[in-house]
Amino acid sequence: MLKLTHTKLNQTKISFLAIPVCEDADIHEYGTIQELVKKAGCFQEFQGKKDQELELNCPDETGFQRVMCMGVGKLNVLDAEIFRKMAGKAVRSAIKKKMADVVIVLPAVGKIPVDMPDLITAVSEGACLGNDVFDLYKSEKKIRPLDRIHLWAASEVVNDFQRLPSRIESVCEGTLTARRWVSMPPNEKKPEAFTRTIVTEAEKAGLQVTVLDEKQLQKDGFGGIMAVSSGSLSHPRMVVLDYCPEHAGQTVVLVGKGVTFDAGGINLKPSTSLEDMKMDMAGAAAVAATLITLARTGCRHRVIGVLPIVENMPSGNASCPGDIIRTYNGKTVEIGNTDAEGRLILADAMAYAVEHCQPAVLIDAATLTGACVTALGEQIAGVFSPDDNLAQQVCQSGEKTNERCWRMPLPDDYRVLLKSDFADINNMSRSRWGGAITAALFLSEFVGNVRWAHIDIAGPAYAKKESTYCGAGGTGFGVRLLWDVVQQL
Ligand code: BES
Ligand code: ZN
Ligand code: ZN
Repeated sequence: MLKLTHTKLNQTKISFLAIPVCEDADIHEYGTIQELVKKAGCFQEFQGKKDQELELNCPDETGFQRVMCMGVGKLNVLDAEIFRKMAGKAVRSAIKKKMADVVIVLPAVGKIPVDMPDLITAVSEGACLGNDVFDLYKSEKKIRPLDRIHLWAASEVVNDFQRLPSRIESVCEGTLTARRWVSMPPNEKKPEAFTRTIVTEAEKAGLQVTVLDEKQLQKDGFGGIMAVSSGSLSHPRMVVLDYCPEHAGQTVVLVGKGVTFDAGGINLKPSTSLEDMKMDMAGAAAVAATLITLARTGCRHRVIGVLPIVENMPSGNASCPGDIIRTYNGKTVEIGNTDAEGRLILADAMAYAVEHCQPAVLIDAATLTGACVTALGEQIAGVFSPDDNLAQQVCQSGEKTNERCWRMPLPDDYRVLLKSDFADINNMSRSRWGGAITAALFLSEFVGNVRWAHIDIAGPAYAKKESTYCGAGGTGFGVRLLWDVVQQL
């Protein structure tokens, strides 16, 4: 669907041509394109400023049905994200105009301060991620994604980077899968059903899949998972996805929080935006989609995904505040608050991974705390790790994919806040403040000596409003990030 091409522009019929236009420089070198940009410059309202758009009327003989000039701003501040957004916008506007395909023109080699592979990556990502319509539950399908997206470049570029777009497309497919799962309504993704959905996709991708059901979880001592799911009529699951290539290097474990709906349990959440708590499985969605993607694109490491999947509901069978449970590694936890459920299921899953997978690295992704959203807002994830290098690697991958991450501290002296009078630890901090940190400190009690990073994605996993290359709902945050982190390890 996504291809690099160098077709003769004036000999092919093109229904929608999108051209990035810089405010203070000519970034093209092909005559036909330069002429179109010049024509756009005759219009008072268009100077190539960032986010400006101009549609040119083209006479029939040019072969272009529509030409859209898209401002990208000043040359010396151009970066990959500007092009990701530009491509996303081009695709979304073509979709709204009910087109079936679009040709996006790339700037010429050496004309902008972004390297060619990074530019192709960014434009491909923006285009693929923007080419998504979530209308599964709409009776009338008003618009549909494009069938074809072509990136137009010089013939050397096409030769040198021919295989890049399809690889990026595979990774973006992973993001779209995660988005769909997160946006799916909670009645359609109760733990047993969500597990079946994941298993079907994972098996298709060739992953080795193991599912632990409620009987096994009970028998094997997954006290956290059992306690959180006890209020729900749907049974808990733990899904293990294994990507094990021949001659694999180190083992990397990814753990994802899979709360298909977080009502809070007996510590019931207030009703404002309660419906958004269908997104509390975004960590599991990101991890499962990352594994599926790794299986498709290949990777030299063995990567194992561990996904505890539950629903957190209040009922006569639900856990009570004050309950004491025994987690998978034997530590006892007093449940100070039933709404701090994510850390309980992650504790079991992480302890299981440490015992069974001997990971060289363990990374968990979780919509863990509202406090992290308070700290970093809705667009930036919090990264917690005692390992400077690992934290840095995650943040660097985030810069590359524009899934932004910010390292947060894990101060040892804050551990006292999790003291329980009756059990080894409390899942609720004694302080109102620093909730993202105390949640991460809680998790650290279950990783032993394994190199570990925790990514709190409560903010960026879900978007109330659409943006340039992401619709409203699940954002798929974490898939491109985790895929890149694993490739870099
Ligand atoms: N799933 C929530 C965290 C969350 C909040 C995700 C907002 C996305 C948006 C989590 O289970 C939770 O309820 N956390 C509590 C913890 C508290 C009870 C210690 C919170 O953040 O308030
Ligand atoms: Zn909760
Ligand atoms: Zn939760």
